Amino acid sequence: MAVELTQQEEFAILKLNRPEALNALNFETIAEISRAIDSVRERDVRALLITGEGEKAFCAGADIKELMGQSVHEHRRTAEFGQSVFAKLDRLDVPSLAVINGYALGGGLELALACHFRIATAHAKLGFPEIKLGLIPGYGGTQRLPRLVGEARALEMIMSGRSIAAEEAERINLVHRVVDDDPLEAGMAFAREITGYSLPALGLARSAVTRALDVPLAEGFRIEADLWTLAYQTEDATEGMTAFAEKRKAVFRDR
Ligand code: CAA
Repeated sequence: MAVELTQQEEFAILKLNRPEALNALNFETIAEISRAIDSVRERDVRALLITGEGEKAFCAGADIKELMGQSVHEHRRTAEFGQSVFAKLDRLDVPSLAVINGYALGGGLELALACHFRIATAHAKLGFPEIKLGLIPGYGGTQRLPRLVGEARALEMIMSGRSIAAEEAERINLVHRVVDDDPLEAGMAFAREITGYSLPALGLARSAVTRALDVPLAEGFRIEADLWTLAYQTEDATEGMTAFAEKRKAVFRDR
């Protein structure tokens, strides 16, 4: 299997498992990622962590050997397939975290960008080298990167093909944290800061924030008021406020 899905405590862990090709995304791997996301939806987990097998790479991008010789029509369908699978990841209800344990290039960085959060080991390298192949990013990178780091930095990364070290990635908000220890352990520690909260509230918070980037400010405020009102109607909100008043820890039930 090119992808391994396991469960540890409250976490689903998806590991790309083609270390001989630096975990490059061939079509089968993307199809397996898609099936793994479907499986995560059915499981009782609080977060999804994605990482790569081996110490060298999270994922070195689309499998270049497989892209060669495609017709223009096939090439477009490849992009649409990758985009749709990564969009499914982006829309996942449980929080997702890319644990970038080495190279995250091209489609590999696009996979990380489709996760809700990203951490990276100090030796990780992140970039969009497609321009060196005469290509451009095709699995959402040209759209997600500028939303995260701004147009100027996104243009520089995509048009120069320059890879950046984890420390620079943290400085420009491409990753949330650089970690030294066991990356998966560090990922679980990061996720635990979130997983104890109500899933409906987490989903509404994320929805409000991501929509802020797409709509005018006045509409954004309306969306926020709608989602705030929805959050207020959950049992978890009643529990959270009651627990505060009773000076005890809230027990959320995702309702
Ligand atoms: N596709 C297919 N195979 C790849 C690969 C990729 N993206 N990246 C690495 N590999 C393979 C290599 O061909 C090599 O296999 P062989 O031993 O059979 O030759 C093996 O993985 C190890 O790689 P290297 O020997 O190249 O390792 P290195 O340490 O010398 O270099 C690297 C590491 C700098 C990451 C280099 O492998 C590299 O530049 N890889 C390509 C990165 C890239 O261009 N990614 C973008 C792909 S296009 C894309 O992703 C489009 C999109 O937006 C969807």
